[in-house]
Amino acid sequence: MRISVSPDPAATGAAAAELVAAAARQRPALVLGVATGSSPRPLYRALADLVREGLDLSSAAAFALDEYIGLAPEHPESYHAVIAREVTAPLGLDRARVRVPAGSAADAPAAALAYERDIARAGGVDLQILGIGTNGHIGFNEPGSPSDSRTRVVDLAPQTVADNSRFFPDPSRPVPRQALTQGVGTILEAREIVLVATGAHKADAVARAVAGPIDAAVPASFLQRHPHVTLFLDEAAAAGLSPAAPAMGVSA
Ligand code: GLP
Repeated sequence: MRISVSPDPAATGAAAAELVAAAARQRPALVLGVATGSSPRPLYRALADLVREGLDLSSAAAFALDEYIGLAPEHPESYHAVIAREVTAPLGLDRARVRVPAGSAADAPAAALAYERDIARAGGVDLQILGIGTNGHIGFNEPGSPSDSRTRVVDLAPQTVADNSRFFPDPSRPVPRQALTQGVGTILEAREIVLVATGAHKADAVARAVAGPIDAAVPASFLQRHPHVTLFLDEAAAAGLSPAAPAMGVSA
């Protein structure tokens, strides 16, 4: 794993955006994997700045990691809506090439299979952008998710429901408790992975993902097995890491 540490979330996002932009310049038909959540927002903002300066992402494709079950795609907090608002529009992606799992499909397991098929048909994901949950989840692969799990329906951990409740302040609209998520195995098939984490509340999950045992208790720890992962952290999220840890390119 390579690790890049920046002073704050904006600088972290800018550093990660440079990596994504370089990949897109090399391969205009790049297949991106895109995460929602607050962590990758500075990355998307910095990438949108580069698009305004001439970077062309209109030939790229994108697959979202996950979607809530039980939220209509029109709901502003559905990942369909979040991806459209925070990724597709600002990055100038072609809407027809952006996919989000069909969390509101009547047959969710069939939708999961179809999603895997769509990713395979696109030739797989070239560059996956990830965040990390405070409990070490990636996508919505909660603790206990096996390393070979595929896109499927999952129950959200109580910690995740609590973390996400900030997006659902209206008590008449309860926080979703299930999701359709790419599996750990699906995510690990991406050719390159970029994980963005910022803030002191992520320090423990980051330390366990990077330096803890590779174990389903911390799904992000399976990233240690992937040959091409870069973590973009701010100083607060990197606080639990030893700068002297072997085999890590730590840059300040
Ligand atoms: C959700 C998403 C994850 C994301 C995580 C962390 O659970 N499914 O993909 O990484 O939230 O979110 P945040 O970056 O807002 O802390």
